[in-house]
Amino acid sequence: YVIGIDLGSSAVKAILVDRGGIVHYSLSKDYPLINQKSGYSEQDVELWYSKTKEIIIELLQNFNGRVEDIDGISFSGQMHGLVLLDEENQVLRNAILWNDTRTSHQCREIEEVIGKERLLSITKNQALEGFTLPKILWVKENEPELYEKSHRFLLPKDYLRYRLTGHIGMDYTDAAGTLLLDIEKKEWSHEMCDALNINPALCPPLMESFDFAGQISEAFSMETGLSVSTKVFAGGADNACGAIGAGILSEGKTLCSIGTSGVILTYESTGSHDYKGKVHYFNHGKKDAYYSMGVTLSAGYSLSWFRDVFAPNESFSSLLDGLDEISPGSNGLLFSPYLVGERTPHADASIRASFIGMDASHTRTHFVRAVLEGVTFSLKEALEILKQNNDHIDTVISIGGGAKNKEWLQMQADIFETKIITLSHEQGPALGAAILAAYGCGWYSSLEECSRVFISYEESYMPITQNVVMYRELYPLYQDVYEYTKGLSD
Ligand code: XUL
Repeated sequence: YVIGIDLGSSAVKAILVDRGGIVHYSLSKDYPLINQKSGYSEQDVELWYSKTKEIIIELLQNFNGRVEDIDGISFSGQMHGLVLLDEENQVLRNAILWNDTRTSHQCREIEEVIGKERLLSITKNQALEGFTLPKILWVKENEPELYEKSHRFLLPKDYLRYRLTGHIGMDYTDAAGTLLLDIEKKEWSHEMCDALNINPALCPPLMESFDFAGQISEAFSMETGLSVSTKVFAGGADNACGAIGAGILSEGKTLCSIGTSGVILTYESTGSHDYKGKVHYFNHGKKDAYYSMGVTLSAGYSLSWFRDVFAPNESFSSLLDGLDEISPGSNGLLFSPYLVGERTPHADASIRASFIGMDASHTRTHFVRAVLEGVTFSLKEALEILKQNNDHIDTVISIGGGAKNKEWLQMQADIFETKIITLSHEQGPALGAAILAAYGCGWYSSLEECSRVFISYEESYMPITQNVVMYRELYPLYQDVYEYTKGLSD
C-alpha cells in the first residue's frame, strides 16, 4: 500500500491505495483560513500537522492489513505558502498563503531590482503577489525581528514532510513557485538571492518529487502507529500532483482543475516556450518536464462565497439544482470572478468581482449559473494563451469541483470548445501523491506505467453547437467587464 496526502487550502485529505490503484480509504479534515485584513490569507501551521496526524490515526484504525505493508507515503500541497523556521526548526509565524495579496509593493520591488526580462529568463514567471519570494520580502520589511530569526523557509507540504521524517527539503515542482529557482538549471538562483538580499542559506535542499526523503520518524510512528519502515517521498505542488493524478504526462494533455482556485494547465516537454510571463511555467513532477498554467484565483471559491452569503444553510447540490433549466448565458446575467483579484490573464491583485446585467426576472439559479459561467470564461482566457504554443489541445481532462456537476462539465465543453473527459474514481492531487510514492517505491518503472494502472477515464462531453454559438457571443462581453470595472476598485 501507499498513502497520498493532499494538504489543501481548506482541508487535508489522505488516501490509502494498493498496488492495483484501488483506493481503500479516503478521509479529509478541514481547517480555517485566517483573514485578519482584506487581502490577507494565513493558516495555522500546527493545524496542518495535528489534522494530518488525526487522519492517519483514523485511517490506520480502519485499515485491516499490517502497517508494515504500507510501503510509501508522499504529499501534494497548496503552492507558494511561506512557512518560516528558526534555528531550532520552530515555526516563526502563521503561514502566508498563495491567495494572500498583501505583497504588491514587494512585487514591484522585485521587478525593478532584477528587471522584468531577467526575472522571466531565470524563473520563467512574473512577480505575482501569491508567490513566495514577495512574501519573504514582506516579512523582512514588516516583521524584521522575525526575519532576523529565520533560518529556513519551506512550503506547506515540505513542513508536513519535515514533521513526519525530521528531514528538511523541497522538491522542484514547489520550488518553481517561489521565484527563487532557476527553472531550467534546477538550482536556487544566487542571482535572485543576491539582488534581493536574501540569504541563500534560507533555501532548503532540492529534490525530485519521487525522491526518497527519509523514513517515518520514531516520534511520528509512536504518535500514529505508522511503521518506521514506511518510506517517505518528496511529493509535489498540488497542481503538479493533480496533473500526475490525471495522467498529464505527455504533450497535448491538458487539465482543468477547480478547487478553491481554478487552473488550466498543459504538459510541456521543454522549458523553452515563451509565454512572456502571461501564464505560469513550472517544473513537472516527471523528471525534466514542465507544465504551463493559468490560474483563476476564485473558482470554487466564487461558488462557496455565493453560497455562504446568499444560501448559508444549503448544500452545494441543492444550490446547483435546476441549473439545466436556465439556458446558457443566464438570460443576460454576467459574473466576473475577481473576488480576491485575478492572476491570469490580468495579474491584478486589486480588481474586484461584479455581477452585470441584473434583471427583475432573474432567480437565484440564474446567479448560480452566471457564477459558473464567469469562472469558466476566466479559465478559457488561460486556455487561449496555452493554445498559442500548443496547437494540439483538443481535449481537456476535468477534475475537482468542476467535474462534480454534469451541467458545469457541459459548460466547460461549450465554453472551451474542446472535448471534456472525467476520471472514473477521481481523487484529485492526492492520487498524484500516491502515484509518486508508488513510483518512488519501485512498484513501476515509470510514472506513465503507474498511471496506466492507477487512472481510468470515464465520461466525455462534446461541445453542443448551439451553446458554442451563444458563448462565442458572450465571451468578448465578459472580457470587456475587466476593462470597465478596473478603475472602480483602485
Ligand atoms: C497556483 C496556486 C493555487 C494553489 C492552490 O499557482 O496558487 O492553484 O496551488 O492550492
